Parts: sequence; structure tokens; C-alpha cells
Amino acid sequence: MDWGLQNRVARMISPRSHNTVMLAVDHGYFMGPTRRLENARATIAPLLDHADALALTRGVLRTSVPPEARVPIVLRVSGGATVLKEDLSNEATTVSMREAVRLNVSAVALSVFVGAPHEHESLVNLGRLVDEGEEVGMPVMAITAVGKELEKRDQRYLALACRVSAELGAHLVKTYYCDGFDKVVEGCPVPIVVAGGPKLDSDRAALELAHGAIAQGAHGVDMGRNIWQSEHPVPMLEALRAIVHERATVGEALDVLNEAKAAEKAR
Ligand code: R5P
Repeated sequence: MDWGLQNRVARMISPRSHNTVMLAVDHGYFMGPTRRLENARATIAPLLDHADALALTRGVLRTSVPPEARVPIVLRVSGGATVLKEDLSNEATTVSMREAVRLNVSAVALSVFVGAPHEHESLVNLGRLVDEGEEVGMPVMAITAVGKELEKRDQRYLALACRVSAELGAHLVKTYYCDGFDKVVEGCPVPIVVAGGPKLDSDRAALELAHGAIAQGAHGVDMGRNIWQSEHPVPMLEALRAIVHERATVGEALDVLNEAKAAEKAR
């Protein structure tokens, strides 16, 4: 791996813990103004200093993140479908590698839709993006998207989708947590980070998800709704950091959450 590409990876993934807490705020690219992300700038501002990387689109980057921000950017470069269509897999690359370099991002991210009507195009797009990324030292994160078929998120499917992504050259894979997640990790030769999915019933449930993923070999989270749809987004990020970087138990992470909530209240 070239120095530039390694350096970009090291900006996002802590060289100390080898893990990362990415904050995902890219939902608008196909869902529109998602609850609590209607005003992206307002949602992102208090969280900027607590995340290891920010995953978003160029539109939100330009409009809602100050250029002085030091947080590494994972730029979503795929799109072309919205929730108004039944099939979300008809995506293409919507941002050039030149633009990604100009925006000084640390990685680009693209969804692959294994088993979906546009599986072929999304996988070929991934291969092409990796070629372009290698040319300029830009890491590529593949996102194993399931569209509206959330029930697809089982071990056999995710293991297949992650492995295929890695085989096509992705430097990093974002997928979902599942029962038997260790098998997904075992079959994927590049680091995996997990998405949170739709908001869970409680903050504890989201922390349990993160803890299970880290315990079974994930290199971090790329989480959105379970952070910014929580009543306490900054304390949630702090609790996740304890799990991801310090290998805290769920109980210890809940203590971090409650302490951060108390500190927030006292301010
Ligand atoms: C889909 O919109 C994106 O890939 C999200 O970044 C990903 O699903 C992570 O966000 P969440 O934790 O809300 O699922």
C-alpha cells in the first residue's frame, strides 16, 4: 500500500486501537430530510469533535461542515436512486475521483447491492473506483447495502457481500452486525466497520450492538441514526468511543454515557 493511501487510512483508523468511530450523516442522499438530520449543519456541529471521521455526501460537506474542521471525511460517491423507488440498487458513481481529491477527503464510499437487480453494475462500479483510488492514494470503502430488504442482514448474506467487496479491492467494508458476525469477519480480509441501522429501542441496545461487533473483530462503527436520533448524541458518541477504543464493557460504556449526560446537564 502506498504511503499516501496508508496515511489517509491512519487519519480515520486510530493507529493505537486500530479502530474507528465514524459518524454517518449521508442518509439524505436517498432518504431526503431524515428525522433529526433535517438541518445537517445543526446536527453535525456539536458532534464534530467527538468522531474519528464523518461519512457524508459532497452536498452536505460543502454546505454543512466548516472547511476548518479537522475531522477526516469519508465521501459517499454513489447515488442515483431514492426511497420513492422500490429498487434502490440502481446506483452509479456520482462524484469523480478528481473531485474527491479536490475536497481533500480521506476515503470514498460506494454502496454495493449484492443479490439485487443492479448487483452487476454496483460491483463493476466498485472495481473501477478502486482502480481510480489506487492511482491517487484514496482508500475505498464498500458499503454492503440491502436497500429496503432489511431482513437480508444475516450472516450468510453479509459474509458473501463483504468477501466479494474485499475481493474486488475495497480497502475497508461497512456492513451490518448480525448473529454469527465473527464468521463475517473471518471471511473478510480487510477491516470491517458496522452501521447501526434504524434507531433501536434504547441507547443500551445500540451500545450492545457496537460491543458485540468489536468483540467479534469489527474495527469500529460507522453509525448514524442510533447517535443523532438518540436524546443524547454527544454522550452516545463518548460511550461508543469507550467501547471501540478502550474495549469497555456495555456496563462501563453506560457509565460513560450517564457521566456525559450529567456533564451536559451541568453546562
Ligand atoms: C445509509 O444511508 C448509509 O450507508 C448510512 O451511512 C449507514 O446505514 C449508517 O447509518 P445508520 O447507522 O443510521 O444505519
